[in-house]
Amino acid sequence: MKEDIERILSELAGLKCQTEKEVEEARVRLLGKKGEVTKLFEDFRTVSPELKREFGQKLNLLKKAVTEKLEELKGSVASSSSAGGKKEDATLPGDPMTLGSRHPVSIARQEIINIFRKFGYDVAEGPEIEDDYHVFEALNFPPNHPARDMQDTFFVSTGHPNPLLLRTHTSSVQVRTMEKQSLPIRVVCPGRVFRNEAISARAHCIFHQIEGLYVDENVTFADLKQAILLFAREMFGAETEIRMRPSYFPFTEPSAEVDVSCNICHGKGCNICKGTGWLEILGCGMVDPNVLEASGIDSHKYSGFAFGMGVERIAMLKWQVNDLRHYFENDMRFLKEFNTCVEV
Ligand code: DAH
Repeated sequence: MKEDIERILSELAGLKCQTEKEVEEARVRLLGKKGEVTKLFEDFRTVSPELKREFGQKLNLLKKAVTEKLEELKGSVASSSSAGGKKEDATLPGDPMTLGSRHPVSIARQEIINIFRKFGYDVAEGPEIEDDYHVFEALNFPPNHPARDMQDTFFVSTGHPNPLLLRTHTSSVQVRTMEKQSLPIRVVCPGRVFRNEAISARAHCIFHQIEGLYVDENVTFADLKQAILLFAREMFGAETEIRMRPSYFPFTEPSAEVDVSCNICHGKGCNICKGTGWLEILGCGMVDPNVLEASGIDSHKYSGFAFGMGVERIAMLKWQVNDLRHYFENDMRFLKEFNTCVEV
C-alpha cells in the first residue's frame, strides 16, 4: 500500500491535462468508484490495527492532494480555453458602448465662447435671480419701460424699490463686471435667461444668451463691427457677410441689429431666410454713457461696445432647426443627431 501511495503521489506531480475531458478522465481513474485512490481506501480495511493510524493519515493526505491537483487542472484548462479555445473568438467586434453626447445648446455655447476666447475675451458669470437694479435700472431702462412689467418678467419678490426677479437677459452681468473689474474689460457672459412668454416654435420662457462687453479708451463702432464680422466668419464660415441695421436698446447708443448672409442660399433667398438672403443673429451697440457712469466708469475717458445673442438662435441657424422647442424637449432622436458634433 505504501508503494501505491507514493507512486500515485509522484504521478500526480507530473499530471498534465489539455482539456476538461482529460481532467474528468483523471478524476474517474483516481477518485471514481473503481478509481485507484478509492481502491486504496477499500484495502485500508485489511490493514493491521497497529498500522491503521499511520496509513489512515497517509490516505487522507493523498486524497487531499489528488482533489487539489484536479481542481487546479480544471481551473487552468477553463482559463486557457476561454482565452484561445473555440468558445470565444477574439477577432469578433466587441459589445458596442453607447456614448452620450453633449446637448446642442452646450455645443453652440462652447463654440461661441471659444471664438471670443481666441479674441482675448474672458468669461464672466452672474446670478440668475437678480435684482431690478442690475437687470433694468443700471442699464438705463426708463422707469416705465414695458420690460419691467409683469408681462415679461418673472418676479421673485415685489413690493419694494429693488425687487428680485429672474433675469430677462445676461446684460445684467455687464453691470456686475463693470462694478467689480478694473479696466480694460473684455468679457463674454453666458447664461440662462427667463421671460414670461407663451412657448412656441420661436419663443420659450427659458433660453440661453451670451453677452459681450469691451470697455477701454478709444473703443469705436468700427471695433464693434470688426469683432462681430470676425465672430460671424468663425461661426458660420469664411464667406459670411454681415449687415447692421439701426435699432434701439436703452443701454446702447447708437444701437444696431446684426444680420449674417444666409448660409443656406448664400444670399439668393430661401425659406430659411424667408427670401431675404439675411438672418438676424444679435443686438449690439456702443455702451450708453449713462450705463458706464452708473457703474462708476468715467464716460469721458472710456468708451465701450456690447452685444447680446441668443444661443438657441445661433444653434438654430447653424443646424437649420426650425423649432425652438426641440432644444428643450430632449427627444433622444433629436439629441442623437448631434453625436457627431465635436466640440472645438
Ligand atoms: N439684452 C438684449 C436682449 O436681451 C440683447 C442685447 C442687445 C445685448 C444689444 C446687448 C446689446 O449688449 O448691446 O434682447
